[in-house]
Amino acid sequence: MPSPKPPAPSPSAKVRSGTLLALKRAGQPITCVTAYDYPSALAVEAAGVDVCLVGDSLGQVVLGYDSTVPVTMDEMAHHAKAVKRGLKRALMVVDLPFLSYQLGPLQALENAGRLMKEAGAEAVKLEGGAEMAPTVALLRQAGVAVMGHLGLTPQSVHAMGGYRIQARGKAEAAKLLKDARALQAAGAFAVVLEGIPQALAKKVSQALAIPTIGIGAGPACDGQVQVWHDLHGAMPGRGPKHARAFSGQFQAQVMALQAYAGQVRGRRFPGPAETPA
Ligand code: KIV
Repeated sequence: MPSPKPPAPSPSAKVRSGTLLALKRAGQPITCVTAYDYPSALAVEAAGVDVCLVGDSLGQVVLGYDSTVPVTMDEMAHHAKAVKRGLKRALMVVDLPFLSYQLGPLQALENAGRLMKEAGAEAVKLEGGAEMAPTVALLRQAGVAVMGHLGLTPQSVHAMGGYRIQARGKAEAAKLLKDARALQAAGAFAVVLEGIPQALAKKVSQALAIPTIGIGAGPACDGQVQVWHDLHGAMPGRGPKHARAFSGQFQAQVMALQAYAGQVRGRRFPGPAETPA
């Protein structure tokens, strides 16, 4: 007889890296969304989302860069600090940006430490597979919680030749599974699987004890992550294929601005209620 699933952690308790493992064991999907500022963090809290990722996607959706490559440590720390002020229950994970960890484990530790000390990060995320295992191991040894990121790794967009689904072939899929196991063995507490076929995501999720968080990897992952602007319809026409807009923020903002401008031009704003006596 299969052993019963352990109970899920209390929904009101502070989410810690270990909570994600407990959610996986309880068979409860993990929710994760990116956020880049204080008001968004307040909304993440109000909605009860488990994990708030200050992603380096902020380079594209907030700063207007054409990839995550130019994002700096200063930019990550600046946005992470704002997010931190709005978070309470959700686990705050912050991305290590391109070239803040690839020079070696000590560089990674220094920068992860900065995100923790300056911005209050509770965990960091880095991209890469087995080649990152020594880095993950050192970070863990030093007390840093690490989330991995495999498959479509946006910091390698130029080496990958664009944003396309990864690991479609047999050899690539086998390598990705090996990479996931290496990250787990090195001490990662979770792994993001981005842009890979759903069958592979399912296989990796079943093979690992630690949770997988999918984005463009199908429903079999242990959790899902989405970029704030994609799920809010904040940049219509620019979202990836895997995203669903749960609200129409861009349209709502344009309509509000048009209403505001119309009322100012028509001398209907401010009215008596908004005017001091
Ligand atoms: O930077 C980011 O937002 C991410 C997610 C897409 C997982 O890494």
